Formats: sequence, C-alpha cells, structure tokens
Amino acid sequence: TVQGILQMYYEFEEILKEISGMDKFSLHPQGGAHAVYTAASIMRAYHRDRGELDKRREIISAAFTHPCDHAAPATAGFRLIILPPSENGYPSIEAVKAAVSERTAGMFITNPEDTGIYNTEIDQFVKIVHDAGGLCFYDQANANVLLGIARAREAGFDMCHFNIHKTFGTPHGCSGPGLGALGVRDYLAKYLPFPTVEYDGEKYYLDFDRPESVGKIRQFQGPAGVLVRAYAWIRAIGQEYLKEVSEISTINHNYLQKKLQELIPEIDVPYAPGRRRLEEARYCWQKLFEATGVSTTDIMRRVGDFGLQHYWTSHHPWVVPEPMTLEPCESYGKEDLDEYAAVLKHIRDEAYSDPEVVKNAPHKCASHKLADESALDDPKRWATTWRAYVKKRGRT
Ligand SMILES: Cc1ncc(COP(=O)(O)O)c(C=O)c1O
Repeated sequence: TVQGILQMYYEFEEILKEISGMDKFSLHPQGGAHAVYTAASIMRAYHRDRGELDKRREIISAAFTHPCDHAAPATAGFRLIILPPSENGYPSIEAVKAAVSERTAGMFITNPEDTGIYNTEIDQFVKIVHDAGGLCFYDQANANVLLGIARAREAGFDMCHFNIHKTFGTPHGCSGPGLGALGVRDYLAKYLPFPTVEYDGEKYYLDFDRPESVGKIRQFQGPAGVLVRAYAWIRAIGQEYLKEVSEISTINHNYLQKKLQELIPEIDVPYAPGRRRLEEARYCWQKLFEATGVSTTDIMRRVGDFGLQHYWTSHHPWVVPEPMTLEPCESYGKEDLDEYAAVLKHIRDEAYSDPEVVKNAPHKCASHKLADESALDDPKRWATTWRAYVKKRGRT
C-alpha cells in the first residue's frame, strides 16, 4: 500500500549514491547529528567484529569540524583527539600523523569545515588513518559546494552523511524537521539500520532480515515530507545543474562576505584570514561587542524584526568569540543578499546609536526574548515535558 513513497526512498538513495560514490544509504536518521551517531555505532560494530574494539577507542577530529562529530562518537563510547588548526585553517598533516596509533578507531571530519575553509589535503588525512587501521567518516551536512564537484568516495572515505533538510532544496537556517542520509561503502552496508528499502524488479519492499545491522535508530524511515521536497527538487533541477548549485553557492557566499566587510568595519573573519571561504564563513562580532555591549545573540534576535529568518549564532563551543555563521547557498538572489547586508549594517549602526533597541529585541516577533538565555545551556534548568518541568520546579 505504500509503493509510491518506498519508490521515492529507493530512488533518492540511488541519487545520493551517484552524488557521493557510496554504495548504500540509510534514510532513517532524524537529522545530521543522528546520522553521525549512527556512523559512530557502525564504526563500533566494525571494530567489534574484528575483535579490536577494546583496543581502538580513539577518534581523531578537528577543532572546526562540527561539534556533533565530536559529541556523537563520544556518546558511542569513543575518546576524542581534537586537532587545532594550522595557519591554513585546518590541521596539518604532521598533526594527523602524530595523532594516529594502534588505538585509532577512526576519523570524523567536516570539509569544508565550519569556517568555510576547504581542506585540500583531506585524501592524505584519510590515507594516514586507514594505514593505522581506522575508518573515516565525512560530514557533508552542508554539501552545497560539493555537489557535482567532489565525492566522498574519491577522497577515500568509508562513510558520509548529508543533511537533506539543508543541502537539498531547503534554505539553510530555516528550520523545520530534519532528515539525515547516511551513506557507507559496501563492506559496511550490512551494519546499516533496518529495515532497508529494496526493490525486487517488480515491487519495493522493506528488508528486516539484516542480522548484522546496528539495529533500529528510530521507528521508521526519516521524515517523508523532507524526502519528498528534496526528491522533487533534485529531479526538477536534474544532474547537469547540480554543479551549478555549487557554483552559485560559492558566488553568493563570496558576494555576501565582500559586501559585509565593506559595509561593517567591525566584522572579522578570524583564523587563516584572507584564505578563501567556500559557501560559508564564521564571522566574529567581538569588536562591536566590546564597543557597544551588543552581542551576536542580540543581533540575531533583532534580525527577526526585519522579517528575515536566516541568522546563525553558531553552535557551542564558541571557538570564535561572538560568532555568526552565514551560509546563503543557492537559494537566495542578489537582492536578498543586498537586503540582508543592509539589515546587518542597520543593526550595527543601531548598536552605537540606541543599543537598548537591539538588546531588547525582538520587538515584532511572535516569540519574545528569554528572561535568562543561559538556561538553554543548562539541562538542569530546562525540561522537555510539562511533567518534567513541574518536577524540576518542585525540587528547587
Ligand atoms: C557540518 C554539520 N554537521 C552536522 C550538523 C548537525 O545536523 P543537525 O542539526 O541536523 O543534527 C550540522 C548542523 O548544523 C552541520 O552544519
């Protein structure tokens, strides 16, 4: 009774296989971090089956790799070795060589990193980790500059993931439900979560008979709505225009960065300054903060007053102080980018002329400023259900 949607899951996997060079995909994960956790579980199963899990407990990663690539393997029981960037903006080959050993389970890495800097030596990183007996996972959550240009397979990776809710047809930063796609090479396919979607030449079906699977990571496939949108988007633009998505994403980013740096003298792009970013940059508002007391979080809330949604303060830990990561990608046109830059310039001017307006924002949004934003980072002070809230409140 669900042949249509199964066909879409199946065909979308085929498309992702072509884009990445991986041999099999799972569309179960409910987002990027969930896909990364599934990859860490597969890495654990791989070393366990080789009788090496007790020995191989270390994962190598980089400081500007997305923090879920640190948190997910840690949750799966691994220890993290996080390499700092060299003057290139990413770790040096010597640092990777020094980090590997017989304890290495693998590497989890984002490229381009969260700074937008592309690591051109990534294949050598992979080789060093493989030579030490580890597996390599490529975080391609935001692949808008890689589509049609670079594939995880050619760089030597064993696994990769895409954030379908970001790369494929959803404007970045515009929220909504998540769908993570985890791709693996053939020798890891048996570990993927079950059931997988298969095709016997006549009909599509769910294969539950996968005894070596890491198991179920949720009750069914990831959100079908996100899948339908991404499937429609990719079928509409076609294979030949995928590369154009990457080119437009790069141009849009370069245009926005140049415009912002012309308009706003306080905006910095720290770490490997001057090095070209691809589709995003992690900007720094520290100078404005020191001069006016207006923080990146204040600016974020104020942006909403102008009817614009896309603003990322960047996740914790804040390796860059007062960070703002903008990733316009292919979805926006020149007028949108001009408007965006003009709004940020306006808020920057307000920070000097009337800082309280910015600090007390939003003024026109349905949701208000939280009384104490630090509570968001403290699990002791928030609750995911009313019952948990009442229980916690009762204790304090
Ligand atoms: C590079 C990268 N990896 C992983 C993730 C995590 O994805 P999600 O927020 O869907 O869990 C993100 C999201 O911001 C990301 O940018």
